[in-house]
Amino acid sequence: MDTEKAEIKTVQKITIQELASFCARLGFFYPSGRIYGGLSGFYDYGPLGAELRREILNDWWWYFVERRDDILGIHGSIITHPQTWVASGHVDSFIDFIVTCKRCGAEYRADHLLEDMGIAVPELTLETLSKLIEDYGVRCPKCRGELGNPTPFNLMFTTYVGPKKTAASLAYLRPETAQLIFTNFRNIIMTMGVKLPFGIAQYGKAFRNEISPRGFLFRLREFEQMEIEYFVNPEKLDDCSFYDEVKGMEINLLSAEMQEKGEKEGRWITIEEAVDKGLIGYKWHAYWIAESLRWLRKIGINYRKLRVREHVKTELAHYAVQTFDVEFLFPQAGWKEIEGISNRSDYDLKKHQEYSGAEMYIYDDGKKVIPYVIEPSFGLERIILAVLFSAYNEVKGRKVLSLHPKIAPIKVGVFPLVSKSGFIEKAKKIYDMLKEDFKVIYEAKDSIGRRYARADERGVPLCITIDGQTLNDDTVTIRFRDTREQIRVHISDLKEKIRAIFREWSNKNPQWCLHDK
Ligand code: GAP
Repeated sequence: MDTEKAEIKTVQKITIQELASFCARLGFFYPSGRIYGGLSGFYDYGPLGAELRREILNDWWWYFVERRDDILGIHGSIITHPQTWVASGHVDSFIDFIVTCKRCGAEYRADHLLEDMGIAVPELTLETLSKLIEDYGVRCPKCRGELGNPTPFNLMFTTYVGPKKTAASLAYLRPETAQLIFTNFRNIIMTMGVKLPFGIAQYGKAFRNEISPRGFLFRLREFEQMEIEYFVNPEKLDDCSFYDEVKGMEINLLSAEMQEKGEKEGRWITIEEAVDKGLIGYKWHAYWIAESLRWLRKIGINYRKLRVREHVKTELAHYAVQTFDVEFLFPQAGWKEIEGISNRSDYDLKKHQEYSGAEMYIYDDGKKVIPYVIEPSFGLERIILAVLFSAYNEVKGRKVLSLHPKIAPIKVGVFPLVSKSGFIEKAKKIYDMLKEDFKVIYEAKDSIGRRYARADERGVPLCITIDGQTLNDDTVTIRFRDTREQIRVHISDLKEKIRAIFREWSNKNPQWCLHDK
């Protein structure tokens, strides 16, 4: 098939609200507790969403853990020893600032309230936020009432372990998966025979009691993170054996220096240029930026809508030497973070060593070393949003979700052309044959045109149709979602042909998703 034609040229924008309704109608995501009016910041995955989630997580695990020799996976608990969060600094400083209207009691996250009014917030401190609210005379957007002073609010959800609700039984739902990797560092060293450099990865739920959840799946109170902590000898941060693989890759970079000069747009430069100019501090950090982007592009995110933005000094977390956000260009909201890639230094391991007394070193070149860590931290739901915005197209009134077959929730549709005996039996036989190997749906209701349209919306890459000719010569048509082209294949070759099409899809120009120029 002509791969060029497989790309859809006409692209229309969809707003985040429209995407949310589209996803609910098709069974991707529903507001959690919808029958009771919903619970802000929580979404449930419907049948298509649950498959999409599983496919993305599986691909992430395969790409970053299974196929590599230097990364091991773990699966940590959601509630862990509370000292974890004292040592990491979350108990003291995982805060946002809340402002409350003195008249109607409405509560706002102070920096969001200011940003929504077009007021730039240079840093998240009590003094800066209070001053901006006063200087601009900001009032409650709902009732115009006077606002109280911003107050710090810790984002961790709390619970109690055991029957007694006392200070001693207080515990936290993890606000990031990363700390479970640090607290398991010693277990891995003692049991797995690892050598530097190496990584530990995990995915799983994280919980943050966000003051103002919003943007559909963008800011949730319960979400999923996919995180890697990659441990490197601090003296060997430029000693990256994979660097040559990625140094020629072009990225859209907005450095801290560029932002300080007032530049708003990134520049396309190679990884090598970025390292040579000192914009990315170390080669290992550069490698993990590139490797993250390669995966995001591979699962179908439009590469032209990905930007790497460095944190300016005032946003840099206390533990970080240098941090970059991978941002996606969202409709309306603009560039927003979907992944963070931080050089966290040896901060976390040293803190856990200090608080637990457990030694956190590893031998490298015969010397004890507390390694530095580069942390690619992906948020699943934001990645799903970027995938959906990249895949959603409207072509002459026809809605098409051009998901890569690798992550599409349904891979193949099987349809008898007409709902008549002969056609139905044959179609069901093919359906039974294919479902051993692929996630397949069978549908006989409605006209074939409507069934194709439904499949296109749900992102089904291929549809198999059983028509009059099938009954004579055992051939069927394969219809391609993105081009509507059809080819004829003998039933005996069908499975192999589908596999070959999916292989070709993955092997072709990795920038297949760049149709949105
Ligand atoms: N361990 C580092 C860490 O947690 P982060 O920037 O706070 O860093 C990493 O979070 C990623 O988790 C973000 O890039 C984002 O994709 C996702 N994330 C964070 N807060 C979120 C929220 N409230 N809702 C949905 N995703 C969120």
